[in-house]
Amino acid sequence: MSERTLVLVKPDGVERGLVGEVISRIERKGLKLVALELKNVDRQLAEQHYAEHDGKPFFESLIEFITGGPVVAACVEGPKAIAAFRQLAGGTDPVEKAAPGSIRGDFGLEVQYNLVHGSDSPESAARELKLWFPELGA
Ligand code: CMP
Repeated sequence: MSERTLVLVKPDGVERGLVGEVISRIERKGLKLVALELKNVDRQLAEQHYAEHDGKPFFESLIEFITGGPVVAACVEGPKAIAAFRQLAGGTDPVEKAAPGSIRGDFGLEVQYNLVHGSDSPESAARELKLWFPELGA
């Protein structure tokens, strides 16, 4: 059964010219792009997207980071798309958790500047896709 997930190439990934690399890995894995957009994120969308982190010590810095430059947002579809993209991304901390061969493991150093985001559950995917791509009616 096919499912959908939200993928973001965060401002650090866009700034470093890694959009093509990330999209290429998604396509080579066999996942499909359903929607793709370069987008400036306003504070309201950032706070809604990261609502579960509100109150954490890194929240303010995370909001500033994600609103600090354009992101590439994608709706990605395929069998087990949520887990499949999380495997491609690697663990949240690019050095401590992400394996070499993953996007974060290959290109990242710091936990905040971890290049990509992928929804972590079907519930998060549904919530996040509604925020970022309301027109898909997911
Ligand atoms: P993401 O998968 O988008 O989900 C939450 C984000 O918060 C995470 O990736 C990181 O960019 C950021 N983050 C998580 N933990 C920390 C931390 N300890 N310090 C700074 N940023 C963090």
